[in-house]
Amino acid sequence: MKAKQILTYVTFLMVIGSFSGMWAQAKQDINILELDEKAPEEIKKTAEILDKFPPTLISELTNSIKERGYAGSISFCKTRAPQIAAEFSKTYNKKIYRVSDKNRNPNQKASEDEQKVIEFWLKRIKENQPIKTVYYKVGDKTKVMKPMRIPNEMCLSCHGDLNTISPEVKEVLKKEYPQDRATGYKINDLRGAVVAEF
Ligand code: HEC
Repeated sequence: MKAKQILTYVTFLMVIGSFSGMWAQAKQDINILELDEKAPEEIKKTAEILDKFPPTLISELTNSIKERGYAGSISFCKTRAPQIAAEFSKTYNKKIYRVSDKNRNPNQKASEDEQKVIEFWLKRIKENQPIKTVYYKVGDKTKVMKPMRIPNEMCLSCHGDLNTISPEVKEVLKKEYPQDRATGYKINDLRGAVVAEF
């Protein structure tokens, strides 16, 4: 190859290289929008569906704790929480699920884009700003994410400091979730999110 040909070839590779770099960047970048009156109707409706998820779960969980205690309710969380998510998904015809940056269930680890939203919220919390439901596009999908914070003491019996969680609960957690990362929380901490994908 002549020097000129090599130069043309190298330039060509550099152009292709920078395009694919830009593409990779574009694929990862998400534009996080906070829910407000200007949001599209479908987003607003989806956000209302997500608002119903935590109260449904919390009321059933509270009943389970009364009946079976905390250690006995871990199996309730394990079977019933995914069931409620599946029921919501079916009723509303959208994939609805829970995620966390410090997940207990290995299948509920926040994806790369969901992690970006969590970090966005954590930054706002650090700055003493309120956090809201957000929406964004990723590929050809739209996601709506509602933050879930720790509202009360009840959650801490299973998600609080390891020194304060009862030995019975710790034992069941160790058995059912050997890779558990969902402890060490305090009231009002960001525990994770409920997500709708469509
Ligand atoms: C009886 C123990 C118990 C209590 C009380 C409890 N949780 Fe959990 N939590 C669990 C278990 C077990 C899982 C994993 C469930 C699964 O496998 O999907 C879980 C999972 C979660 C998840 C999904 C993300 C992940 O880490 O897998 C969120 C969000 C969550 N809990 C929030 C809360 C909040 C908020 C409260 C209080 C209102 C609460 N939990 C109270 C046991 C508990």
